[in-house]
Amino acid sequence: MYRDLFSSSLRVLHNINSTAEKGAVATALSVTRTFTSLEQADARERNRSVTSFYNQPAIDAAADKPAVRLSPTTLLYSGKSPDGNHILRSAQYLHKELPVRVAHRIVAFRGLPFIVGCNPTILQVHELYIRAFHLTSEFPPIRDFEDEQKYSQMVRGLLDDHKDVVTMLAEGFKESRRHIKDEQLVRRFLDNTLTSRLALRMLAEHHLALKIERPHHVGIINTQMSLRKVVDNWVDFSQKLSESKYGYFPNVKLKGHVNATFPYIQVPLDYILPELLKNAMRATMEANLDNPNNVPDISLTIANNDNDFIIRISDRGGGIPHPDVHKVFQYHYTTSGRVDDDRVSRGIFGEMMNSDQQGPGGGPMHGFGFGLPTADAYAKFLGGSLEIQSMQGIGSDTYLRLRHIDGKFESFRI
Ligand code: ADP
Ligand code: COI
Repeated sequence: MYRDLFSSSLRVLHNINSTAEKGAVATALSVTRTFTSLEQADARERNRSVTSFYNQPAIDAAADKPAVRLSPTTLLYSGKSPDGNHILRSAQYLHKELPVRVAHRIVAFRGLPFIVGCNPTILQVHELYIRAFHLTSEFPPIRDFEDEQKYSQMVRGLLDDHKDVVTMLAEGFKESRRHIKDEQLVRRFLDNTLTSRLALRMLAEHHLALKIERPHHVGIINTQMSLRKVVDNWVDFSQKLSESKYGYFPNVKLKGHVNATFPYIQVPLDYILPELLKNAMRATMEANLDNPNNVPDISLTIANNDNDFIIRISDRGGGIPHPDVHKVFQYHYTTSGRVDDDRVSRGIFGEMMNSDQQGPGGGPMHGFGFGLPTADAYAKFLGGSLEIQSMQGIGSDTYLRLRHIDGKFESFRI
């Protein structure tokens, strides 16, 4: 109901041109939204969000400031004091930094073409960021541990409220991209928004994790991460998905430097690895529908060296057809749901990604054609790369390369 009313108001907004008219309809829109969401506890907050599309000097001022980006080494060595003072300092840094970074996100939403920015789902995300700006910028200064507790609670809430942002953007752009002439604009916006969001979430998670004592961990940095353990976890996850979709799953054979351990941050791997493994499993199962209980193994090789570490996933899923190879890194390119076969229901893994089977990104990531472009953007952000070599007719080799963060070489900044 709320969504219907909101969409119809937006349709009116699409069809008008003058700024004065837009202002008038926007005012009506804010009335509609406030009225329909009266039952919700956050009615006042919402009203303020909508007003903020138009009247936002605080957001403008914050957006003019540069982000203070930290290297993983800085996070690691920023000192751990027995009195917990490092936690206060970390909260104080976030308190300053979050509003600035959230304001940058809002500016990016404002820069979208009008027709795209008005898409109800995209507008909902835009609003989430405006709300996040108010919550983070109006939080009183953090002076003691009691303030810090309350601040951390607010940050935890924000992480949760924003968990579906990637799925919402995938939906919103899917609906509105037919209006967009400039493909590069979409790519730039999504690459930028998704990687900045990853950094924001990493900073927030780091602060929350600093408060928990875990062996070999300083916040989100695992000083002795076993890549094999992380891989095993996502292999297991993807196999479970495959089993509930196709009744069977491919085995994954691990090779190479399987015993390697090194300092790293697991958060981004938790986004990238399931996407790559799900693709390899789906291709393998769909290339072998006649013989699903005896499909070829997937082979996963780990290589570790002084500069970087590499994961190669080799599947025998038939590869990517020649004409489509260049498309797989485009946002929204997907062949999911194309197989017209009773043994595969529509949407492949997509529809089964319900709440208890979600990936770490939250929401159904499969079937939107977001897995590879997002993983590629994250890999580049981390100073690495993602490549696919397809042997059409046989299978694909996917290479994920990521720089070490041990301080020997320049690494990415969060
Ligand atoms: P989705 O999984 O939602 O389709 P992705 O961006 O992860 O989105 O993948 C885009 C498309 O690339 C897939 O739909 C599939 O056609 C192709 N693809 C990706 N990985 C493989 C693979 N290992 N083998 C064959 N095709 C693949
Ligand atoms: C997001 O997840 O979209 C964020 O930007 C998180 C941040 C507001 C804490």
